[in-house]
Amino acid sequence: MVRRRRRYGPVLLTPAELDRMREVGQFAASLLDLVEPMIQPGVTTEAIDRAVHEATRARGAISAPYLYPPGGDAPFPKHCCTSVNEVVCHGIPSEHHVLHEGDIINVDVTPKIDGYHGDTSRTFCVGRVNDQARQLVDDTFEAMRRGIAVVKPGAFVGDIGHAIQTFAEAKGYSVVRQFAGHGIGKIFHGPPTISHTGKPGEGPALVPGMTLTIEPMINAGDWRCTVLADHWTAITVDRSHSAQFEHTLTVTETGVEILTLAEGATLDLTVPDA
Ligand code: MF3
Ligand code: CO
Ligand code: CO
Repeated sequence: MVRRRRRYGPVLLTPAELDRMREVGQFAASLLDLVEPMIQPGVTTEAIDRAVHEATRARGAISAPYLYPPGGDAPFPKHCCTSVNEVVCHGIPSEHHVLHEGDIINVDVTPKIDGYHGDTSRTFCVGRVNDQARQLVDDTFEAMRRGIAVVKPGAFVGDIGHAIQTFAEAKGYSVVRQFAGHGIGKIFHGPPTISHTGKPGEGPALVPGMTLTIEPMINAGDWRCTVLADHWTAITVDRSHSAQFEHTLTVTETGVEILTLAEGATLDLTVPDA
């Protein structure tokens, strides 16, 4: 039987597969909990990568970013992405990159266990950060939360982008267009593409079992970005700061379940009235 449709349709997971996603998702969250106390002036992004790599190996898991994509021309050389200040995403950890007081840094991890991926990131502040940068980080978390809050069966992918874009632009920020969320499961980056901008009712409808990431990158200035000669590091064209948060989630019969929350953690999804 040829089930070619599966290659192009959204990632739809069974209850048994979702159990695996909960397991790897919770482990992904634990990796971010592990690196959080390391985020201090003087630490290198290489040290963060090493901690992620070692904990992943100790768990018997694999770092999906390492040498991703398979067979690519310039596979990603490290185990997580570390994106500092004007770096939008896909920053490459390096022993030459030392964190300084006042930096903001996104750490993005994607462990894989038994073939299933848990993709999550947070932006951390290094020591004392100025009010503008701290506000950008807080508002970017809120943008992700607003995007997650609209997820339920019958809602549309465009509703997610709309919620994120209206919140971020009302605060005077811009939303990155070049990178998006994605379907996820046994495949790291699958359909549908989850734009962080959009209009209500646009794009595919959400159905139970659909499993995806929401990972808005919000810039203090221009939304445009450019990729450096290393083929990965994306920076803002105007060198303004960029922040990002990411969760992996699944559409349930009644709403949404976040798969990359730490054990026992919760996220309140109530949104204030407009
Ligand atoms: N974790 C990133 C995402 O959210 C992807 C990183 S791919 C890498 O989709 F190769 F840069 F690691
Ligand atoms: Co990610
Ligand atoms: Co992702």
